[in-house]
Amino acid sequence: MALDMTPEQKETGKANFNRVVGKLADADQQAQDQQAQGVTRRRFMQGLVAAGATAPVSAAAYFGYRYHGFPSDFRPVRAGLIGCGDEGGVLAGEHNPNFVKFIACCDVRPTNLRRIFTGEPLPSPRRGFNHHYGINAKQDIRQYEDYRELLANPDIEMVVIALPLHLHAQATIDAMNAGKHVLCEKLMAWNIRQCKQMIQIANEKDKLLSIGHQRHYSMLYAHANEVVNSGVLGDVKHIRALWHRNNVRPNPDANARRDRPLLDSWFPLIPAEDRERLTATRIRELGYKDINELCRWRLYIRTGGGLMAELGSHQLDACSIFLGKKRPLSVTAVGGTHFYADDREVEDHVYCIYEFPGPNYNPHNASSRRNDIVTVTYSSISTNGFEPYGECIMGSKGTLVVELEQAAYLWGLQGRSTDVTASAGGGGAPVLDTSSSSAPTERQATATGANAIGQNAVSRGYREEMEHLAYCIRMRELGMESDRDQLQPRCGGPAAMADAVIALTANQAMKNRKRIDFKSEWFDPASDQVPDADMVEQSPR
Ligand SMILES: NC(=O)c1ccc[n+]([C@@H]2O[C@H](COP(=O)([O-])OP(=O)(O)OC[C@H]3O[C@@H](n4cnc5c(N)ncnc54)[C@H](O)[C@@H]3O)[C@@H](O)[C@H]2O)c1
Repeated sequence: MALDMTPEQKETGKANFNRVVGKLADADQQAQDQQAQGVTRRRFMQGLVAAGATAPVSAAAYFGYRYHGFPSDFRPVRAGLIGCGDEGGVLAGEHNPNFVKFIACCDVRPTNLRRIFTGEPLPSPRRGFNHHYGINAKQDIRQYEDYRELLANPDIEMVVIALPLHLHAQATIDAMNAGKHVLCEKLMAWNIRQCKQMIQIANEKDKLLSIGHQRHYSMLYAHANEVVNSGVLGDVKHIRALWHRNNVRPNPDANARRDRPLLDSWFPLIPAEDRERLTATRIRELGYKDINELCRWRLYIRTGGGLMAELGSHQLDACSIFLGKKRPLSVTAVGGTHFYADDREVEDHVYCIYEFPGPNYNPHNASSRRNDIVTVTYSSISTNGFEPYGECIMGSKGTLVVELEQAAYLWGLQGRSTDVTASAGGGGAPVLDTSSSSAPTERQATATGANAIGQNAVSRGYREEMEHLAYCIRMRELGMESDRDQLQPRCGGPAAMADAVIALTANQAMKNRKRIDFKSEWFDPASDQVPDADMVEQSPR
């Protein structure tokens, strides 16, 4: 993320981050003690950091749902998985059967319907149903090739949808009409009109709709957000977000090399078994032009949404959270197929500039040069992965980098090699200070905290998003919470629709080569105004 960061500077940045998270928790604890309130989020954070957190820490407590001590009639929510491809495999691998018990799955590709049970060898997160339910899992988890048949199964309470983008809306609407709660993968839908329909049907049917922007359930991001919102970074006027990678490889098929000399991860090879078993008629019945479109749906506009839908939406989601869930004011974007010379319709390089309102932004002063604007730049590059992915939040008093959903680094004004901590500022608000104590013991204790939840990789939030939805479903059903409205997914329809508006409006800016000002109606589920009225879907199924 930062071009010339040394391992030592990273270590300092990590320790700074953990120390400041702990200090903020301390300060919050003192305030809590004064008010004699119970366990709070920050108090929990303090426990996490102070204890060194060598055992995996339950995100449930942090995100406000129970993990143990359920009422005796709490049963896992019976679920069906629709779409058993790469991401369906991750979700199957990550789910917690104490909350979500899969009893059905659906896919049209025989190889994926098999892999969803067997999984892949470690370190792949696709551990397969057999890992959770034993080698006879197939006996208890019914397999379907038509998701409508799965939806007709009355035992299923909730579905997890990990289908190509163009099918998200139709599958969600069909599921809700069949009486199911839904966790649908991001991007919420192929166009904004569909997002509004999804919210409407959830309201009409009184079903829970959650969208899989997993950063809403990442403790690393939650801690980073606490740091940003504490004010220790000073005035944040710029965030640099990026997702860069290089999956380019020569096409091994000499016959196909003329049309497609290079391959990448959006052009997976198609297993012979899928080619043999899926006839052209069957594929057309499914609404695809051919097997290429089914397996490489990300490359085509009819089925995908390009880099902004697939990658940029994650990071703009994070940026808008860091900026207080604000909506952007404008976007300017440049992008195109600048590298690959094949039939792909989506861009391989994207560069965007968003203007977000700062805390003192005055809408009546919008035309003035002097206004409180936060600029967010986003780039997605497919030919160079030197800097991988993450967000760099640049304040007047400090810099915070969140990298690869796995680590966060914090530095003060003194630079990347200086230890900092948080202390009470003059007005009571915390400020970054050169650390008075950087004894190795303290550094070591804090370094195992927020950046290293347990000894394993930091949870990216997939498991928690499924747990929480299941918790909300069951607790609502049992009438266990006094305030039913609190039992809502953290990334529900309106929040996810905002992410879709932000991503898909950048596509419009790119396509039309112009700066676009966001309209509040686009974010309003009740309004029929959309930023992408020209995106009219063709025969979705
Ligand atoms: N949250 C994340 O970090 C994350 C990461 C990767 C992908 N995703 C999202 O997950 C979704 C799926 O992506 P993927 O990488 O798994 O794609 P994929 O192509 O690997 O999987 C899609 C699966 O859907 C199946 N399918 C297609 N049409 C179907 C139909 N009509 N009925 C039943 N099955 C059908 C395909 O056979 C395939 O197995 C996308 O929306 C993507 O954006 C999210």
